[in-house]
Amino acid sequence: MIVTDTLNIKTTKIGQSKLANVDFQNLPFGKVFTDHMFVADYEDGEWKNFELMPYGPIPMSPAISALHYGQAIFEGMKAYKLKSGEISIFRADKNFKRFNISAERMAMPTIPEEIFMKGITSLINLDKAWVPEGDNYSLYIRPVMFATDDKLGVKASSNYKFVVLTNPSGPYYSQPLKVKIETHYTRADEGGVGYAKTAGNYGRSLYAFSQAQKEGFDQIIWTDSKEHSYVEESGTANLMFVINNVLVTPSLGGTILDGVTRDTVLQVAKSLDIPTEERKVPIKEVISKIQSGELTEAFAVGTAATITQIGIIGYENDLFTLTDPTTRVISHKIHKVLDDIRYGRSEDVFGWNTIV
Ligand code: COI
Repeated sequence: MIVTDTLNIKTTKIGQSKLANVDFQNLPFGKVFTDHMFVADYEDGEWKNFELMPYGPIPMSPAISALHYGQAIFEGMKAYKLKSGEISIFRADKNFKRFNISAERMAMPTIPEEIFMKGITSLINLDKAWVPEGDNYSLYIRPVMFATDDKLGVKASSNYKFVVLTNPSGPYYSQPLKVKIETHYTRADEGGVGYAKTAGNYGRSLYAFSQAQKEGFDQIIWTDSKEHSYVEESGTANLMFVINNVLVTPSLGGTILDGVTRDTVLQVAKSLDIPTEERKVPIKEVISKIQSGELTEAFAVGTAATITQIGIIGYENDLFTLTDPTTRVISHKIHKVLDDIRYGRSEDVFGWNTIV
């Protein structure tokens, strides 16, 4: 069946929905895709060919430049089923802006807000039966753009594809994390692309991550590339600490992703009169404040991770066990305010929800 709307989105619906085969009580993160996806092309200097189609393989040349030279960016955002029954996307405007910041840094075309948002909302409307209910459950939205020139010369591609995928998802992490402070490998360097949500930032992190996993860790805490003296971010999220009742997070520079959840948590904290500091966070301070008992909370903040507690930090050859994650006060308080807004149980005083 073909229908069109204001963007002239061509819609081809799936013959038989896969919904009945999905166990909504047991949703892993990022593995179950909804029935459809949104696709658009950038050709001849403009965005065109807007299409909703059944989720599945897209035929492509093995010469596409995204595969060879890494022009690929993505976003992660979530839609929630509100108490009212409506579906809302959380802070889509901020993800949209970051998508275009990443695009500019990677010499890719920016995308107009109408295409980004309409692509997402029309996909969610088509697959709205897939939005799960309940705390910790949401529809994860993954917009991605990649270069599709099928030529082997090293230059910015002229053609791109924009695709939106959606996953009904449960929590990314189900347990407090054991994290390793990485002092050999680096995720990002000054003047590089650390602030862009580009595939290569994740690709370059995977070897160190797999080494850390072999050593029994769940995640890495990346440190600055010059001295390995300052905490930056984790592999999937930004980092926060509570030190002497102040919420402390590494300040942004070119090397850290400007996390939407990071900004959200800071804003909620300020609204609760919790003092916040965005500054350089020395590893030595983290370790010494754990030892003195002044560092009472550590957690990762990200769209996929939401707020995930950190239970153990490994540094050099030592393991430091933090306070019992279930007894922490500030992160739990912020998490509750956030969930109440995201699931529509309290007024959206910040204006963060976009009803689909
Ligand atoms: C997100 O939090 O949405 C991310 O993109 C992090 C990770 C799953 C890659």
